[in-house]
Amino acid sequence: MEMNETKKVVLSGIQPSGTLTLGNYLGALRNWVKVQDEYDCYYMLADLHAITVRQVPAELRQNCFKTAAIYLAAGIDPAKSTLFLQSTIPAHSQLAWVLDCYAMMGELNRMTQFKDKSSRHADNINGGLYTYPVLMAADILLYQADLVPVGSDQLQHLELTRDIATRFNHAYSETFKIPKGLTTQTGARIMSLSDPTKKMSKSEVGDGTIFMLDSKDVVIRKIRKAVTDSDGEVRYAEGKHGINNLMSIYSAVTGKTFEEIESEFAGKGYGDFKLAVGEAVADELAVLQGEYQRYMTDKAYINDILIKGAEKASYIARKTLSKVYRKVGFYDPTK
Ligand code: TYM
Repeated sequence: MEMNETKKVVLSGIQPSGTLTLGNYLGALRNWVKVQDEYDCYYMLADLHAITVRQVPAELRQNCFKTAAIYLAAGIDPAKSTLFLQSTIPAHSQLAWVLDCYAMMGELNRMTQFKDKSSRHADNINGGLYTYPVLMAADILLYQADLVPVGSDQLQHLELTRDIATRFNHAYSETFKIPKGLTTQTGARIMSLSDPTKKMSKSEVGDGTIFMLDSKDVVIRKIRKAVTDSDGEVRYAEGKHGINNLMSIYSAVTGKTFEEIESEFAGKGYGDFKLAVGEAVADELAVLQGEYQRYMTDKAYINDILIKGAEKASYIARKTLSKVYRKVGFYDPTK
């Protein structure tokens, strides 16, 4: 236990707004598993973030549970890492409000994810969607996280988190640790298979997204259909978005470098390459899917982990929040 206090702190989260994708896995989840031994890790289900887009309540509830099962199946070990639901810890919303008052409209206006989501959900551009990155800053800063393992689409939010934390620290003295993003070389930005100039996302309809629970046949079919160029040579090059993406996926899954992949497929066509990518992805997911089915039958176990996780996390979160309340000048009538 004491040992943990000297370890660096890691925090990250995924929105339980549908079945997780290969992008979520290669960009985030798989790397969470890798850092568990070295760091004191907090992994949350970002359910507060999920309601910035309309959710069917029963589906959201189910997706929270399923996502917890996926975390475990992917190898997050509750003996090493703390798993919890964001909505079960009030300090997240409470700190988010305070930080809202230290985040500038100009900064929030620049967030590309906000611009993108508001164009995709033009009928529901709500305040939560706008202040979403501030809630994310609260998530991170509450735990005094050193490192935040994410895909590259979250780095702009992380920059904002650093700016807000620095601003607060300057105004009131050292309060927050300034966190850093942690991305991997390949896998930090997996693109859609049907439009490889766009990010692979949970909300895409069609065959551009591989979901973590897709069967082997489905994975192989989607990759076989992936949009590529007509050059026919497996090599990483500017403008070859489809092949670059498949090479990144293959590299992330197998650990092979781009040069190794190019020589492995020299003289072979895209068909052979796509099949190899499909099999590598499907085999990796198959292991996890077996574990997932097992966890899904053990509701009591998962609930217990989430309850214990929240107890541990809320202790730390409350400590940071009360420091912040004191610094901004809230009067505490119990003292
Ligand atoms: P979310 O739920 O959109 O995505 C979860 C994680 O998956 C990564 N990711 C990808 N990586 C590579 N290629 C892709 N196509 C791809 N799609 C998604 C994301 O970068 C992310 O790491 N705001 C966050 C959730 C969040 C959070 C936090 C993250 C809430 N609080 C605090 C870190 C720290 C989000 O919406 O991620």
